[in-house]
Amino acid sequence: MELHISLDGHPTVVGAIYRGVLEAIRDGRIGAGRRLPPTRALALDLGVSRNSVASAYERLTAEGYLEARVGSGTYVRATSSRPTAVAPERPAGGLRPLAVWSRIPAGMPRAGSDPRFDFSIGMPDGELFPLATWRRLLSRELRVTNLDLGRYAAPSGVRPLRAAIARHVGASRAVRATAADVMVTNGAQQALDLLGRVMVGPGDVVAVEEPGYPPARRVFEACGARVIGVGVDGEGLMVDALPARARLVYVTPSHQFPLGTVMSLARRHALLRWARAAGALIVEDDYDSEYRFAARPLDPLQSLDPDGHTAYVGSFSKTLSPALRLGFLIAPRALREALQVARSLTDWHGNPTTELALARFIEDGELAAHLRRTARVYAARRAALLDSLSGWPQGRLASIPSVAGLHVAARLGAGAHAPTVAARAQAAGIAVRPISHFAADPATPDGLVLGYGVIDVERIGPGLERLAGLIDDSIGS
Ligand SMILES: Cc1ncc(COP(=O)(O)O)c(C=O)c1O
Repeated sequence: MELHISLDGHPTVVGAIYRGVLEAIRDGRIGAGRRLPPTRALALDLGVSRNSVASAYERLTAEGYLEARVGSGTYVRATSSRPTAVAPERPAGGLRPLAVWSRIPAGMPRAGSDPRFDFSIGMPDGELFPLATWRRLLSRELRVTNLDLGRYAAPSGVRPLRAAIARHVGASRAVRATAADVMVTNGAQQALDLLGRVMVGPGDVVAVEEPGYPPARRVFEACGARVIGVGVDGEGLMVDALPARARLVYVTPSHQFPLGTVMSLARRHALLRWARAAGALIVEDDYDSEYRFAARPLDPLQSLDPDGHTAYVGSFSKTLSPALRLGFLIAPRALREALQVARSLTDWHGNPTTELALARFIEDGELAAHLRRTARVYAARRAALLDSLSGWPQGRLASIPSVAGLHVAARLGAGAHAPTVAARAQAAGIAVRPISHFAADPATPDGLVLGYGVIDVERIGPGLERLAGLIDDSIGS
């Protein structure tokens, strides 16, 4: 173990070592049971005599902080440390982050731990992750010599993955892109962050859907933008209500988050006309449309847009795992250079080994096979959920039509208060979110959002039955 000890500020070397080790124990930097560096090694490291280190250790041993084990070394005793804060909570001089960071809540909280009936949204089933294949591809890519481990890689990601993604979205979504147009990102979230950096400055207006995806709203708020929520009806974002001065508009046209509506073709054209007139960027987040359960998908905005006003964002968080942090951005060419600079300033680039493994996964047809397999599982869950709801009395909970993704939203009948139902459900072991959880405007019509990404098919019926009871109680109360 390396142990940093400062010899400054103490009249004797032994005293400085004694104080340094004691502070490290008290702060919890070296925990109970950890072995200290051998006296010879620490003496060499500090440029002092071995005797000085041994004397400091002896004093700490006599005081009960350390124990010497014959033939093994010197260890921190179990009872000696109670970690205290490493840095003072309120440093002198009023150091604090910008106000925006205290207004933005941390992440999207999970709806309780291990609920019995888990209708959480935003997550795929971890059990379906193709672990054996992924392990094989990762170890293969780690061994091959094309990994240039002595250097930084390209900010846009490894070329084989950019090419594989361009082919994949070209074939499955009619997105027009070559490898050069694709930037591999740490999930969709990094793509949004980069677009915010290059397009949005303090005070700029950004439009987002209302209700909508909170991490998108927040990332633009963090850029200092004035973020305005624009309502969503049965045809998607209400383009007529867009603020005239918006520089960027964020939308989820294939499966509106969280309502599930598909943006109509007429609305898509209206949005593109608006963006052209306003000189604004459309950010098209196509986060989960690989899971499609009916009807041919409409063309993405990106492929309907001849003028280069649309940035297309995709993610492997639903199809593979959110923990991999793999997504991509296909931005208008006018933004490409700025995005590459922004990416290098953020984190240089992603992990080339993971990126090469994903490229192989796509090119070998594994992604297509995985999507077919998992779509069958999710289709069965979705059918179970919609079947159950359709048998319910009118007005209790009516699902909003949707054709893709891993969740459905539903409107509660009059008299039921969605946040109360969701809170009571959570207490009863049913994880479900109210639509209002994703809304910034309290006047947004409420309801519930039910995910089927993680719940087993046979738990859906019983879970919904219990939920029905809670809704009926809430209408009665
Ligand atoms: C609307 C939306 N966009 C993007 C994502 C994926 O984000 P990321 O790729 O950063 O995990 C999600 C995941 O839940 C989502 O709901």
